[in-house]
Amino acid sequence: MRLSRYFLPVLKENPAEAQIVSHRLMLRAGMIKQSAAGIYSWLPLGFKVLRNLEEIVHQEQQRVGHMPMLMPTLQSADLWRESGRYDDYGDEMLRIKDRQGRDLLYGPTNEELITDIFRSHVGSYKDLPLTLYHVQWKFRDEVRPRFGVMRGREFLMKDGYNFDLTKEDALHAYNRHLVSYLRTYERMGLQAIPMRADSGPIGGDDTHEFLVLADTGESEVFYDSEITDLTFGDREIDVNDHAACAAVLEEFTSRYARTDETHDAALFDAVPEDRRRTARGIEVGQIFYFGTKYSEPMGAKVQGPDGKPVPVHMGSHGIGVSRLVGAIIEASHDDKGIIWPEGVTPFHAGIVNLKQGDEEADAACEALYASLKALGLDPLYDDRNERAGGKFATMDLIGLPWRITVGPRGLKNGVVELTSRRTGESEEMPPEQAVERIAQIYAKLV
Ligand SMILES: Nc1ncnc2c1ncn2[C@@H]1O[C@H](COP(=O)(O)OP(=O)(O)OP(=O)(O)O)[C@@H](O)[C@H]1O
Ligand SMILES: [Mg+2]
Repeated sequence: MRLSRYFLPVLKENPAEAQIVSHRLMLRAGMIKQSAAGIYSWLPLGFKVLRNLEEIVHQEQQRVGHMPMLMPTLQSADLWRESGRYDDYGDEMLRIKDRQGRDLLYGPTNEELITDIFRSHVGSYKDLPLTLYHVQWKFRDEVRPRFGVMRGREFLMKDGYNFDLTKEDALHAYNRHLVSYLRTYERMGLQAIPMRADSGPIGGDDTHEFLVLADTGESEVFYDSEITDLTFGDREIDVNDHAACAAVLEEFTSRYARTDETHDAALFDAVPEDRRRTARGIEVGQIFYFGTKYSEPMGAKVQGPDGKPVPVHMGSHGIGVSRLVGAIIEASHDDKGIIWPEGVTPFHAGIVNLKQGDEEADAACEALYASLKALGLDPLYDDRNERAGGKFATMDLIGLPWRITVGPRGLKNGVVELTSRRTGESEEMPPEQAVERIAQIYAKLV
């Protein structure tokens, strides 16, 4: 992409309505535009990042055998009356009437809809286990939409639902989701810590939220500092191996880590004092085992091995895809702008031409652009007639992890400059070597 052609409406001034850094930077970098309270248009740069996150989510879900599908945003109220949640959900649910006077709603989540699909088509335990998921827009009429896409009213969520014959199998599905979520967040350059969450009226311990530590997080969190040393890395786990998945759960959840909702001061005090941490966190996902809460009232049963019908054991598992864009920025920025982790960056590298119109500089930039494209990479070439300072400021603001700077002076010595956005360090090298280096960096990602 050439910046002269790109739609990148950057803002010079800090937007007054943005209270936190990610919201400020997303507006300044021309990633989003508010259309109504808590509802946003995703402009090209923001949309690219959103799509990258979605792609990682899809890859990691399918890696563990979960099946993608797509359910609609609008749902019939009747299904929610069956589960009893139509009345329970309250003002957060956006209720709509169609021209026939039928009650519809914009889905805040999909347990009822997926349970209906399941009960219509699955009748035997032999078809289990089954996990279906989709990535779809949700609407929750939040009391206080704020912080940009972090707490929107319309937001993109991956929600997945497992159907299993027994509680034991469903708990394995829970553990499998935990394993896949750990990988998913790490690929996004994030550390998301599973913390014991409040299961509300459903009871039991079987729900964890994933939290990214950030000062602007809405949850207060309490944890044993040892937990931040854990990484999932590139280990290969057999996701059908119940013991292997349970071991990962044990490893990542045995130390104290809770949000204010489940915090237990007495248990926390048992953590050695020098390891006790209190901080704030952003919830970027949640996994849930809820047994037969929906299958029972909605009659989602299968015939068991003994021929008797039994309600299936279920769980639901969500990732806040649009919130993650903000969360990543909260975790990765400096006073100049965003610093995208390589795994999610909208462009792999920026090319800055210090002297647009200079024959040699233009040719060198074109050659770099073509070489990167030929390797399957996606560069952003700043080919505008702008001062170098302005070009650098834009690149820093939009946060591409690598920048190649090309100018007549360097070219006389046969070199360009490769700069890391994260460290600010620059290195001079021949253009081909810069291309090679960038290719190597991205080849390492999955
Ligand atoms: N209003 C929202 N805006 C953006 N993302 C959201 C919003 N509500 C939930 N999410 C994301 O969707 C994920 C799964 O939804 P879930 O039902 O667990 O949300 P939740 O627990 O109600 O979220 P919260 O406690 O932040 O309101 C959450 O972990 C979060 O990342
Ligand atoms: Mg939640």
